[in-house]
Amino acid sequence: MQSKRRILLIIGGGIAAYKCLDLIRRLRERGFSVRAIMTKAAEQFVTPLAVGAISNERVFTELFNLDDEREIGHIRLARDCDLIVVAPATADLLAKMAHGQANDLATSVLLATDKPVLAAPAMNPRMWLNPATQRNVAQLKADGISFIGPAVGEMAERGEAGPGRLAEVPVLIDAIERRLAPRDTAAMPLAGRHVLITSGPTHEPIDPVRYLANRSSGKQGFALAAAARSLGANVTLIAGPVALPDPAGVTVVRIETAAEMLDAVTQALPADVAIFAAAVADWRIAKPKSEKLKKSAGSEPPALKLAENPDILKTIGHRSKDRPRLVVGFAAETENVVANAQKKLKSKAADWIVANDVSPETGIMGGDRNTVHIVTRDGVEHWSDMHKTDVAEKLMVRVAIHLGQQSADIA
Ligand code: CTP
Repeated sequence: MQSKRRILLIIGGGIAAYKCLDLIRRLRERGFSVRAIMTKAAEQFVTPLAVGAISNERVFTELFNLDDEREIGHIRLARDCDLIVVAPATADLLAKMAHGQANDLATSVLLATDKPVLAAPAMNPRMWLNPATQRNVAQLKADGISFIGPAVGEMAERGEAGPGRLAEVPVLIDAIERRLAPRDTAAMPLAGRHVLITSGPTHEPIDPVRYLANRSSGKQGFALAAAARSLGANVTLIAGPVALPDPAGVTVVRIETAAEMLDAVTQALPADVAIFAAAVADWRIAKPKSEKLKKSAGSEPPALKLAENPDILKTIGHRSKDRPRLVVGFAAETENVVANAQKKLKSKAADWIVANDVSPETGIMGGDRNTVHIVTRDGVEHWSDMHKTDVAEKLMVRVAIHLGQQSADIA
C-alpha cells in the first residue's frame, strides 16, 4: 500500500486563508497528512487552534521556539514532507521567497527545503499585476516553483475584480495531485527527451572593451528551459550574455558570440527538440582589434567592416545528420510579422516559427510579456498577450503533444 503522502501547508496572511481549513479537510479525506505552518499575518485571519483541530497535527508558527526546535527543527520540518504548498501565497511571501529571505519560520523552511513547492497566490489584482510581483513570480518559476492560480473574479474588496483570487479548493487539490504524481519521473511528458534551447543576445567584439549587441533579455528562452525541465526533459540552455540565474536542473552553457553559440549547439547535439529563441547578431566585426581602438586628433572615426554571422537555426534546420525531430525558430519582426515568419519557416527549414512583433512600442524585447503567433506548415495560431513564462509553458506542452503524436505515428 502507498504510504500517506505528506503535505506541508504554509498559510500566508490573506483573507483567503480561511479557505485553507476546507483545503486541509479535503486533503485529509483523500488520504494526505497535512502539517501546517502559519505566518504571523495568517494568524490575523485564522487561528492556529482551528488549523490544528482540522489537520489533527500540531501547528507551527515560531522560528525561535525552543520546544518546537527540540521536537522537530525547522530543517526537518522543511524536509519531512512530499510537497510544500504555499496558500495563500501573498505578494509579501512571494517577494521574500524570490529574494531568499528567511526571517520567520515559513520563509526559513522554504529556503531550507529540498522538496517541490507549489504556490497558490491570492492578493488584490493590482498587487498581482504589479511588475514587482510579476518579476518575483517569474524568478520563482525559473527557480522551479510551480504555481496554481490566481483565479480571476470578484475580490473581497467591494468593486474590485481581476486576477487575484485563491484557486478554488478542488483546483488546488488537482494541482497538488498532479505535482505529486510525477514522483515517477518516467511518466512526465518530456521524460527522456533532450531539449536544446538558445537564448539571449550575442556580443560581437569590436575590440577588447567594445561590442555589438541587441536588447534581448533572454527571459523567453530561460522560461522555455524551466518549462521543459518541469515537464521532465533533459535541457541544455545555450545562453548569450544575460543577467539571469541558471534555471534549476538545467545544463547551462554561457557563450558570447554567434560563432561560440553555433559551436555549443553543435556539441550539444543530438537533441529531440531544438528551440532557437536567441537574438543572434546577424553580423560581427570582420576583424576585431586585439588592442583598444584609440581616438587620434584630426583623424576620421574608424569604419567598422562587418561580416555575416553563421545562421544557427538555418544550419541546424538543414542538417541531414542529427537534425532534431522538431526544430523551432523565433521570428523577431517589426512589420509583416506573420508573412515574414512564413518566409523564415521555409528558408531556415524550421518546423515551427514563433513570431513576435518586437517594435519598441510592444515592450516585448526585454519585457515580461509576449504576444506570439505560431506559424507551421499547416497554418497560423494566434496566442493572446501573456507572460513569457506562460508562453513557455504553453509552447512546451505543445511540443510534448507533438512528440507524443510522432511517437504514436512511428509505432
Ligand atoms: N537565428 C540564428 N542565427 C542567426 C540569426 C538568427 O539562429 N545568425 C535564429 C534566431 O534564433 C531565430 C530565427 O533565426 O530563431 C530568426 O531570427 P530573426 O532575428 O527573427 O531573423 P533573421 O534570420 O536574423 O532575419 P532578419 O533579422 O533579417 O529578420
